[in-house]
Amino acid sequence: MALLVALDVGTATTRLATADGSVSMSESSVVAIDTRNGDIVDVGDSAWRMVARSPRHVVNFRPLANGTTVDFDVAARLIRAMFDRAGFGRFSRVHVTMSVPSLATSIERRALRQAALQAGASEVALVESTIAAAIGAQLAVEEPVASPIMVLGAGATETAVMSLGGIVTHRSVRVGGTHLDEAIADMLRTRYGVVIAPHVAASLKIDIASPLGSLRKEVRVVPARTVETGQPVSVEVSGGLVEAAITDHVRTVVRSVKECLSEAPPDLAQDVSVRGITLAGGVAQMTDVSELLTREVGVECRAAPQPDLLVLRGLLRCVNDVSALRRTSRNFDD
Ligand SMILES: Nc1ncnc2c1ncn2[C@@H]1O[C@H](COP(=O)(O)OP(=O)(O)OP(=O)(O)O)[C@@H](O)[C@H]1O
Ligand SMILES: [Mg+2]
Repeated sequence: MALLVALDVGTATTRLATADGSVSMSESSVVAIDTRNGDIVDVGDSAWRMVARSPRHVVNFRPLANGTTVDFDVAARLIRAMFDRAGFGRFSRVHVTMSVPSLATSIERRALRQAALQAGASEVALVESTIAAAIGAQLAVEEPVASPIMVLGAGATETAVMSLGGIVTHRSVRVGGTHLDEAIADMLRTRYGVVIAPHVAASLKIDIASPLGSLRKEVRVVPARTVETGQPVSVEVSGGLVEAAITDHVRTVVRSVKECLSEAPPDLAQDVSVRGITLAGGVAQMTDVSELLTREVGVECRAAPQPDLLVLRGLLRCVNDVSALRRTSRNFDD
């Protein structure tokens, strides 16, 4: 009997679950490699936490950037490490249903599939992440009405309107949570001449970023180093500064949603305004993000509960229903 596995390899986080519910896990999408001999030092959350404390020859690699595969070998190693942690033996038959960003090219899709095969999967089916998220949110994707979905991930933000089991219109921008983090770090570098670690930038975003300005007066003190001497210092950062740092990216995301909706045929556009847009992905949890999108796009936008798990949840539903999904042309790339 083959193990049926759902796998969501993300820019920030990789999630895996078995169809029988025996395994459900998530790890940071990080592989720490000793550059002297190519050996893996660590994988996942512990590698991510160690980043600032590692010796120089240990370097953290991410298999994905901007939502797509950039390092095939690292992707395969990450997936193998996940299989090992899940307790899959080297000789077990593992059938993987795995997400691929809708923006991925056919070469990138092939790379992701090959990485799973190299990691030991015996069969791999790919499902676009917007479709998986819509299925995870239990939208009526097979029906002749519009099912609008947004996935606000770490590496990309994707919007799709589905109907009759397929994507009708779709827009992706390579702007996600990590780009917001980088924009916050860049702002501190130019304003105060200090460098902050990526996880510090991420925590500022989670704590005091609001695209509507409701956290402008919040202040956090974070550890940093001066650009000039590298000396450790503490800096005070306000919500207002964080808001200013992310504003261009927020505008890019809003524009892409509007473009996506403007391409929907009139009947489906009507459905969208009645049914609203479901938000998936980790950044859907950002303070005021659904309110901002509702206001700017003119359609009610609602974050799903546990939005970062929606793609995995959708994949799990697909695992048991792969043949039904196969009927629609764009869902699989075999
Ligand atoms: N409360 C929050 N406010 C703002 N951002 C958040 C919050 N919680 C998580 N995030 C961000 O969400 C992102 C992770 O989302 P998600 O897990 O959907 O990404 P991913 O699947 O790894 O990436 P992708 O699908 O784009 O490859 C990270 O950038 C994280 O910092
Ligand atoms: Mg994702």
